[in-house]
Amino acid sequence: MNTAAEPLAVREPPLVAGLPLLGNLLDMARDPARFFVKCYRRHGPVFKVRILGHTYTVIAGAEAANFMGTREGKECLRSKEFWEGLVKEYGATRVLTGEDGESHKQLRDIMRRGYSKESIKGRYDELVAITDRVLARDWKPGQWVPVVQAMQYLVVDQLGTILTGNAPLEYVKDIRTTILYILNVLVTRQRPRFFLLNPKYKRSKARVFELGRKMIAQAKERAGRIPDDEKTLIDDIMETHLKHPEIMPASDLIVTLTGPYVAGLDTVANTTAAIVYTVLKHPEVKARVLKEVDALFAAGPLDEDALLKRIPALNGAIMETMRLYPIAVAQMRTATKDFVFEGHRIREGELLYIGTSVPHFMDEYYPNAEKFDIDRYEKPRAEHLKPGVYSPFGRGPHTCLGKSLAEVQIALSMARLFYKLDLELPSPDYVLKTKTAPTPGPAMNFKVRVKGLRH
Ligand code: HEM
Repeated sequence: MNTAAEPLAVREPPLVAGLPLLGNLLDMARDPARFFVKCYRRHGPVFKVRILGHTYTVIAGAEAANFMGTREGKECLRSKEFWEGLVKEYGATRVLTGEDGESHKQLRDIMRRGYSKESIKGRYDELVAITDRVLARDWKPGQWVPVVQAMQYLVVDQLGTILTGNAPLEYVKDIRTTILYILNVLVTRQRPRFFLLNPKYKRSKARVFELGRKMIAQAKERAGRIPDDEKTLIDDIMETHLKHPEIMPASDLIVTLTGPYVAGLDTVANTTAAIVYTVLKHPEVKARVLKEVDALFAAGPLDEDALLKRIPALNGAIMETMRLYPIAVAQMRTATKDFVFEGHRIREGELLYIGTSVPHFMDEYYPNAEKFDIDRYEKPRAEHLKPGVYSPFGRGPHTCLGKSLAEVQIALSMARLFYKLDLELPSPDYVLKTKTAPTPGPAMNFKVRVKGLRH
């Protein structure tokens, strides 16, 4: 892979052909995953793309995914630059996603418990109750439901209640607008900076700050009064702030406390919306899922074991959807030093995309890769277990901290949705339209009709 002693013939990464000025913007905006796969096929695991005058080096494939977790990978890749704009926009000093090395580990340790699956242990019935309440409110029989938006409300309700103690539904639109602008302009830089002058963004950002201040007040009020085993993410963050303000200064509280919404809103909403599509689109999958979820809820209260073992078809559908509709096509990093990757020279300071989702679309790893096949994941096939080929939650030190929580949240929400509702697509031959900015997923106008209630 990359070596300290350079191999004899180190090459410069090839530049992918693109349009004048725009470069590869249109390909990236249309379908970045398949664009990277096409480039990988033509150029191999290292190539350069241009977007609006910026050049990015892409390292892609299973090689790149594996590299992220190695010692060299950790030494050669840094997250800082991509998140600096967001940190500044919040007036903060650091944010989990933008730190590396020891500083990153310190923040991850503070938030590990709050973001873990443990935070919802014994609370599955509560999650079911929240889900039922939201389904009864937003998914009425006869209605056409805009799926992504409806999922956003469900996610905020669930995450708010579980991680922070209350659900700030009146802020959902503001959180979404703020994330949209910040990710597009400051993080992925797909839109020019003057977009941030838009009054709509300014108003939304002010509202997110208002939410952040409310969360601070609420966390301060709880401080010292909550037993250890009942502490939520915001209690852990506030405790660190009160005991060690040098580690968690006041300036970092708003971005850190509202973090779960930034990390969990689009990711879970887009993924669950895509699952609604894939399951309804494949009647044989739908039949298996319905049979499983009916048996699951007939058997009484839920526990983790049930979610893991008793709904294999639904879990297969979830994994298969996350393979084909990854919300993180690539991870963005900067090269911390000169290094050589797969025979190509990467220079210190270069902006990198790590195309970890490229193997998701390769027949070599997933035979007939474009086919939606929910049985790929069970042994003996277990196609996702080959090293570096399945990375919906990222790779390396920044691998999704909410992964196990998200897995429970997604499985439970989807199980309950298909149990409760009889849904249909606009037509059996309907094909999902997708969006790519800021987070890839189903288009906002994707709607399904609630034909009726199943239970
Ligand atoms: C479908 C669900 C989700 C997917 C596919 C997903 C995916 C990802 C990916 C790919 C990353 C790595 C980004 C990078 O390396 O630059 C990440 C990071 C992260 N995710 Fe998730 N995520 C999901 C849901 C959640 C949820 C529900 C939470 C918590 C509420 C969460 C919390 C985080 C956090 C805190 C990080 C930052 C970790 C770090 O920088 O050390 N995620 N996620």
